[in-house]
Amino acid sequence: VDRITSATLRAMKRRREPIVSLTCYDAAFCHLLEQAGVDVLLVGDSLGMVLQGQPSTVAVSLEHMVYHTACVSRVGKRALVLADMPFLSYATAERALQAAERLMAEGGAGMVKLEGGAAVLQTVGLLTRFGVPVCGHLGLLPQSVHQIGGYRYQGRDDAGAARIRADALALQEAGASLLVLECVPAELAAALSAELEIPVIGIGAGSGTDGQVLVLHDMLGLTPGRSPRFSRNFMADADSVSQAVAAYVAEVRSRAFPGPEQTLA
Ligand code: KIV
Ligand code: NA
Repeated sequence: VDRITSATLRAMKRRREPIVSLTCYDAAFCHLLEQAGVDVLLVGDSLGMVLQGQPSTVAVSLEHMVYHTACVSRVGKRALVLADMPFLSYATAERALQAAERLMAEGGAGMVKLEGGAAVLQTVGLLTRFGVPVCGHLGLLPQSVHQIGGYRYQGRDDAGAARIRADALALQEAGASLLVLECVPAELAAALSAELEIPVIGIGAGSGTDGQVLVLHDMLGLTPGRSPRFSRNFMADADSVSQAVAAYVAEVRSRAFPGPEQTLA
């Protein structure tokens, strides 16, 4: 089977075939998620919270990201391995090139993701000019949690929505080939997905995007305490982890997930 690339994802968008993504941090889950047909394995810096017990993604280092990306890509065969660029690893052009080099050459990533709009446009242009496929990330930016002061929905007023739209168009123009929209109103996410040529993968962004992503441990009910309202515990109605992941894949493909309970209008 051929590897999924940005071209595959763009063709899926044109066919209106939902893109299925989950976070993945190791070889065991890479096997299981690929078996279930997940298209994009996101080695997210959410591993700081999920695996390391950190309060945010800020403590995650490039070293950590390279390690987990390699754990996934070593055994992956079909899915696109999308690796997060960690906090401040893309704050200068030099750091960004170095980080992308390590994530792709050592980690085996097929694409890298970085958070933000206007601030990262030059970097996105630089990376894509040198052959690094880039995924943008707008809406809630977890790496900026100390600045935002919490994890909450973004783009709920006209000015906020307009800023996200302008950033999204500029990222596409700069060369990004994919966009993650996190915690934005469903209406805004659907409108942007229709307007952009590049695929949009949503998390807490309603069912009108070109694809969905969740944090694996949230959807398996393994996150202690309260999971985000936009997530769902797929283990609640499943007999095995494989069955839970298969249910998620099927519900994203049929657009049954996210439903009204997981959606902010
Ligand atoms: O790190 C992560 O898991 C992410 C998703 C929430 C999109 O960036
Ligand atoms: Na992330």
